[in-house]
Amino acid sequence: MREQVVLMEDINKSFPGVHALSGCHFDLNAGEVHALVGENGAGKSTLMKILAGIYKKDSGKILYKGKEVDFSAPKEAQDAGIGMIHQELNLIPHLTVAENIFIGKEFVKGIFIDQKAINRETQKLLETLNIDINPETKVRDLTVAKQQMVEIAKALSYNSDVIIMDEPTAALTESEIDELFQFIKDLKSKNCGVIYISHRIEEVFDISDRVTVMRDGQYVATLNTSETNKDEIIRLMVGRVIYEQPKEQSAVPEDAPIVLKVENLCSKDVKNVSFELRKGEILGFAGLLGSGRTETARLIFGADPKEGGEIFVKGVKVEINSPQDAVANGIGYLSEDRKRFGLALGLSVRENVTLASLDNYVDKGFIDSKKEMEVTNDYVKKLNIKTPSIEQLVMNLSGGNQQKAVMAKWLIKNSDILIFDEPTRGIDVGAKSEIYKLIIDLTKEGKSIIVISSELPEILRLSDRILVMCEGVNTGILDIAEADQEVIMKCATSIK
Ligand SMILES: Nc1ncnc2c1ncn2[C@@H]1O[C@H](COP(=O)(O)OP(=O)(O)OP(=O)(O)O)[C@@H](O)[C@H]1O
Ligand SMILES: [Mg+2]
Repeated sequence: MREQVVLMEDINKSFPGVHALSGCHFDLNAGEVHALVGENGAGKSTLMKILAGIYKKDSGKILYKGKEVDFSAPKEAQDAGIGMIHQELNLIPHLTVAENIFIGKEFVKGIFIDQKAINRETQKLLETLNIDINPETKVRDLTVAKQQMVEIAKALSYNSDVIIMDEPTAALTESEIDELFQFIKDLKSKNCGVIYISHRIEEVFDISDRVTVMRDGQYVATLNTSETNKDEIIRLMVGRVIYEQPKEQSAVPEDAPIVLKVENLCSKDVKNVSFELRKGEILGFAGLLGSGRTETARLIFGADPKEGGEIFVKGVKVEINSPQDAVANGIGYLSEDRKRFGLALGLSVRENVTLASLDNYVDKGFIDSKKEMEVTNDYVKKLNIKTPSIEQLVMNLSGGNQQKAVMAKWLIKNSDILIFDEPTRGIDVGAKSEIYKLIIDLTKEGKSIIVISSELPEILRLSDRILVMCEGVNTGILDIAEADQEVIMKCATSIK
């Protein structure tokens, strides 16, 4: 029997208007990986933030290494050996990778940070983790996935006995996930306990020893991973069984008109990408991290400067030099980085979801708030966004519900062409399946959609055709009828 390091009993926590946790239980043994799962807003992050000293519990008891503790600041928990990798990236954008990792640690000479020393130490740390990032890069210049890896490196740089990972793989690709799992195995062998929050149920089976399910702020059950299965976990999480089958054939008629045509699109990361998107079609963009999928989307949306190439919307050549130009041409883009490009965290749910479409509610110079509220409430219901009211600040929503708010924003905008970049990142299995249905319903209304996803099952579930990229080059366009994971991976790793 392994030694118990954490025991949380009867934990309660309320926020204004939200009873986030009631009577929650959780325990962790040394050297085990304990997965924590549940729907968006179930209370997973809140429970772990209490353990990590970020939130104060209202009541309940926490034992750490056998002693009762009540951390009142993250630093106290860190010093005691509890580290947390956050779901929402918490790095400081204008500081370098090294500065972010060493913030609040030693290497201070007087009032100055010893840059050389922290760069050297960071280089060493990144090397042991096999992460290829320059310590002197500013965090704001890194992709979401790279930032996630820095966040992981940072947590691992404390010699923690307990590491909490709140959706560490949400932004990672398959090969990076393999690497992360290797770190986790190393941690286990060093007798470190790992708490692993994820919406990817397969991962839970790959990596965990036990799994705890939460629902609506309550503890549901703890199971030995080897004695349960995916269906049972999902049923405990959402109270029903969900089946997701790949699409078997294209749902787009042969003669559907071409709504978007891209020819020889070029930039420093994109090389001569050309494709067509038909009315009512879902075109999946597959590829590994850094293959140029997001970069292509950003060129189409006018978010980055083009070096060459032409874009035609409904047969007419258009000049798109800014996101405003794209929106004016009926193109919407749901970004992969909801914090930087998708949401204003300090504004309410209502303000965020109607931000891109305010024109629709302005009458003779005044905002028609009644209409604005109606539409917002409608989409909060449609997407099942968990919030006490539409006036709640977005920063107070759970991670998955923030993502749903970004979706609502672009759905309300009513663009004809929608680009969804990692639309279900951080979204629970139940809500995922609702979002798939929603995306497919949009195509039935005649909208055309590009879906960028690192999850191949998602690409295969949604797409009519799949464009695969590798190192900025389009290495294949597959019809769904001929596509499977293997064919996609082949294109994703080979330049013709
Ligand atoms: N700082 C806060 N202020 C107000 N409400 C909050 C705050 N933090 C969390 N909540 C609410 O508490 C509930 C639980 O949220 P939590 O973030 O723990 O969910 P979660 O299980 O991590 O979900 P997800 O899978 O979407 O990340 C949600 O209803 C959320 O809106
Ligand atoms: Mg969370």
